[in-house]
Amino acid sequence: MDIANIVILTGAGISAESGIATFRGPDGLWNGHRVEDVCNPEALARDPALVHHFYDARRAALDEVEPNPAHLALARLDAAWPGELLIVTQNVDDLHERAGARRMLHMHGELRSALCAACGVRERWTAPLPPGTPCHACGQPMLRPDIVFFGEMPYAMERIDEAIARADLFVSIGTSGAVYPAAGFVRTARHHGAATLEMNLEPSAASFFFAETRTGAAGTLVPAWVDQMLG
Ligand code: APR
Repeated sequence: MDIANIVILTGAGISAESGIATFRGPDGLWNGHRVEDVCNPEALARDPALVHHFYDARRAALDEVEPNPAHLALARLDAAWPGELLIVTQNVDDLHERAGARRMLHMHGELRSALCAACGVRERWTAPLPPGTPCHACGQPMLRPDIVFFGEMPYAMERIDEAIARADLFVSIGTSGAVYPAAGFVRTARHHGAATLEMNLEPSAASFFFAETRTGAAGTLVPAWVDQMLG
């Protein structure tokens, strides 16, 4: 099959070799916190200081990490690929952008962004974000971390669905396939006739739905795959 249009889903595993902990690994991020305590609207309402502090710490930690060869390889593919290409990341770090990726979106929000719970405006944010910070657009003291919490609607779902409907190849990198709707993208892609490839440290909950699964570290597998695609 000729591959013209590609959709690439990435998860925490692509940033692991940059030193950012994954969510469900042995040292998983949630291990320090129960998800219920930091990643849902109820937690934000119940203990805003805890939730804001949790994301302030993760935002500050971005200054200590760098894109790894997997991020750099995807940026290289993005720059050179003549067909359509969209990187859909579940990650809230900015390592894809810092590696140079352009055709990409964050479906679960971004650490370096603040969202106004009153007017919905999103603004770039790199400093700590205390509860009650006023929104620059509407003035209400309602800025919150721009993270899609469990139970909230991910960003850009229409754009993602359209890209998957047109994809000839759907690739998943470094995700456990544990969280929907992202975990269901591979089935939609297959339904539209796309080829499917998974690259992950170990088989995932979604491996069954991929035509091919390559197990190993993203920092090794992804550059080799990009060389294959651009070869
Ligand atoms: N290379 C490739 N894959 C790796 C590597 C690596 N170096 N290290 C870990 N992995 C794999 C793990 O085997 C695991 O399958 O990455 C996957 C990470 O899975 P999760 O920790 O569940 O992260 P993710 O799939 O991105 O979680 C999805 O859940 O908590 C929510 O919103 C959060 O976006 C997140 C979503």
